[in-house]
Amino acid sequence: MKRTLAAFIGAGLLASGAQAQRPDIRPTYHFAPQRNWMNDPNGLVYYDGEYHLFFQYNPYGDRWGHMSWGHAVSRDLVHWQQLPVAIPETDVMAFSGSAVVDWDNTSGFGQGGKPPMVAIYTGQNVKTGNQSQFVAYSNDHGRHWTVHGKVLDIGSTAFRDPKVFWHAATRRWVMVAVMADENRAVIYTSPNLKDWRFASSFGPAGRRGKNWECPDLFELPVEGGAPGEKRWVLSINLGDNAVAGGSGGQYFVGDFDGTTFKTVPGWGDQPRWLDYGADFYATVSWNDLPKSDPRRIWIGWANNWRYANDIPTYPSRGLMTVPRAVTLHKTADGYRLAQAPVKEIEALRGAPQVRHGLTLGETPVPLPVSGGSDELAVDLDTGSARQIALTLTDGEGYQTVIGVNPAVDEVFIDRTRSGPHFFDGFEDRHIAPVDLGSGKVRLHVLVDQSIIELFINNGSRTITDRFFRGGGALRWSASALGGTATMDVTAWPLGPERNTAMLMP
Ligand code: FRU
Repeated sequence: MKRTLAAFIGAGLLASGAQAQRPDIRPTYHFAPQRNWMNDPNGLVYYDGEYHLFFQYNPYGDRWGHMSWGHAVSRDLVHWQQLPVAIPETDVMAFSGSAVVDWDNTSGFGQGGKPPMVAIYTGQNVKTGNQSQFVAYSNDHGRHWTVHGKVLDIGSTAFRDPKVFWHAATRRWVMVAVMADENRAVIYTSPNLKDWRFASSFGPAGRRGKNWECPDLFELPVEGGAPGEKRWVLSINLGDNAVAGGSGGQYFVGDFDGTTFKTVPGWGDQPRWLDYGADFYATVSWNDLPKSDPRRIWIGWANNWRYANDIPTYPSRGLMTVPRAVTLHKTADGYRLAQAPVKEIEALRGAPQVRHGLTLGETPVPLPVSGGSDELAVDLDTGSARQIALTLTDGEGYQTVIGVNPAVDEVFIDRTRSGPHFFDGFEDRHIAPVDLGSGKVRLHVLVDQSIIELFINNGSRTITDRFFRGGGALRWSASALGGTATMDVTAWPLGPERNTAMLMP
């Protein structure tokens, strides 16, 4: 009787997705809170040797609710330490927003001649649904926060996600937020982070999706452009109907004079996607990186609103991508972003395994790495093959495939058979268009137990997908159909320390 009951309970747990309770498939080098629900990255700011990562967090459960700002810090962007909740829910939930270092103490919140850290976020009134912008500040490196209160209320229930930064040329603060349901980005300016004045509006444009959320606006040098050329990037997240189904992101390239953003001439209305996978959302970049570091670094929530509340993980639900350096290039197709994992990730590498000139055919060739948490750099020559597959197989035979289809210029991740079913529509193939005319493609793969981040041809395309596999160790193999292909591969185990589970008292 006892055994029957235990078996019954066990089956119930499995059905509800409790498979991921097994600690061996918790990602190791991607940030996840120790427990409970997490969505968007918030308040990304660097100050005094620390990168801050605040995030949408439910302190009380593993589904969306009671939104508060969780907090983690890192000194190198790859080892994160979770800290206590920074900004809790009150009569408003603390929705997404940003943080700045107010170097000149324009806000007057500073103490003892030290600049304050100021957070600007959306307060969602829990009774009325009103969304207005709030300010809070900290004088102790983000450990304790004082809510100053509401600073911008236009009587809307869909006005949110302020990204604030210092605009040096006009010497004032700029906020970009969204009128979510109208598919508009709105820009406000302020001398002191408290008094805000409307400046301009952008959109609808590109893809409307269900709504627009979590905008960002920053300037980048144009690689391959005119000498000294710089342009502004406006990134916009779409709540649904993005490229892989569900939520995702698009971007626009143009100019910003401190008041108005305008796309470059000839930009057109075709959407440019930030990523071709299903799990890259609410992407936002760090403010105030040190002057010695010219990079623009952003991070995304590796999830999708269609199934975010259902993913079979426990005791935390929600994961960030690795931080990525984002660059802007002038290409034959016009201005395009590229992304690469931050180089700091190399500190996690174990001993490399190198194979040159592997010939691939129908019989899968094992790749020289464990498959759990690793990095692969692959140079592929598609040869005479019709399709090339890099396959991750678990102990139960579930497979997740990175595929290359030269005839149709596609690189994809296929997770149609990647693990036990938990959500209708999760099983799918996510395709990035890639010119494979040369027969050569470079794949840079980060895998971490339940996530693949794929950077194609130096990150000119990326595919980010989670997968929720069965038990047993993961093994990589490679094969080719319809002909032969060759590849060079360098593989590193990443880790081994689990850096996501540390909770400071
Ligand atoms: C995006 C989002 C934001 C909002 C937050 C609430 O994922 O919907 O627009 O501020 O999540 O948690």
